[in-house]
Amino acid sequence: MLNEFFLLIRDLVCQWGLIMRDISLHLMDIMQNSIRAQATEINVMLIADREKDELTVEIRDNGIGMDESLLNQVRDPFVTTRTTRKVGLGIPMLEASAERAGGKLDIKSQKSKGTTVVATFKISHIDRLPLGNIAETIMNIIAANKEIDISLHLSNKQEEFNFSISEIKKYLDGVPIDNIDVLIWIKDYINDGVKTIFGGVLNEVPG
Ligand SMILES: Nc1ncnc2c1ncn2[C@@H]1O[C@H](COP(=O)(O)OP(=O)(O)O)[C@@H](O)[C@H]1O
Ligand SMILES: [Mg+2]
Repeated sequence: MLNEFFLLIRDLVCQWGLIMRDISLHLMDIMQNSIRAQATEINVMLIADREKDELTVEIRDNGIGMDESLLNQVRDPFVTTRTTRKVGLGIPMLEASAERAGGKLDIKSQKSKGTTVVATFKISHIDRLPLGNIAETIMNIIAANKEIDISLHLSNKQEEFNFSISEIKKYLDGVPIDNIDVLIWIKDYINDGVKTIFGGVLNEVPG
């Protein structure tokens, strides 16, 4: 009963675009889960398959993972291991956004191994959220978590773009990854990748 009530509110909120305006905000939220799970590696993949009309967003981490009972409950909005508030919304909100755009959410997790969250969206669906500012989201997460090896893979099934902190660090010659010039370079680099891979493929990214 309570749950049905929540689902109604969730859908209304999403419909009004009050919380999650774009995919980058979801990405921020799901990556924060990985950080809270003590991940040392977070791998983000965005794949646009024009033939299948499907956008896949995958976030994989090597954090503490979830046991089966938590994993089975995690789509339930009242499940959280946080102590600061009682309701966990990140995963249910992403599931709502995916389902509203003809897609779905999958989560795989293994205790002390890690977690993989995969959301799919029908690219042409009228309710599909736009990508938003992926470069800024990744840059902000890098700036606040310089010990985590973050990697990004973008693909349109014909071309791909790959970025990883561990790769970048080889060329930094001791300059810290959270140096402002390095962060701005990373943001511009990822932005170029997004334009190259998704320009003209996702209608919000000019071709
Ligand atoms: N990547 C992850 N690794 C381990 N546990 C996770 C991960 N993502 C989510 N969880 C678990 O699922 C719960 C619900 O997540 P979420 O829906 O984002 O709500 P919140 O982050 O507000 O708790 C988290 O509190 C955490 O226990
Ligand atoms: Mg969360």
